[in-house]
Amino acid sequence: PYVVTDNCIRCKYTDCVEVCPVDCFYEGENMLVIHPDECIDCGVCEPECPAEAISPDTEPGLEKWLKINADYAKMWPNITQKRDALPEATEFDGVAGKFEQYFS
Ligand code: SF4
Ligand code: F3S
Repeated sequence: PYVVTDNCIRCKYTDCVEVCPVDCFYEGENMLVIHPDECIDCGVCEPECPAEAISPDTEPGLEKWLKINADYAKMWPNITQKRDALPEATEFDGVAGKFEQYFS
């Protein structure tokens, strides 16, 4: 599956949800995640993310993110329609290590 990674945190642009053919994005306060069992690996969301926060889980080092996506997709509500990005999105786009600092 594809996974949402660190740079979504505190940006949450939500362009990704508009293109997913199986509606497998789930929304937390600070970021979205993809349900790994529902994602069909089509890849159309990856180029839509302005923060470049979406990658296939086959890229090295993304095991942690696969687990985060799997765990939170079970708890958070489904999101299928784009909404405004977080007000601090521009400020936080590209900041390193957001998970450790800000994830709640
Ligand atoms: Fe949805 Fe396709 Fe992205 Fe998976 S890869 S989350 S199915 S748009
Ligand atoms: Fe996050 Fe990018 Fe979607 S910032 S909400 S993964 S468009």
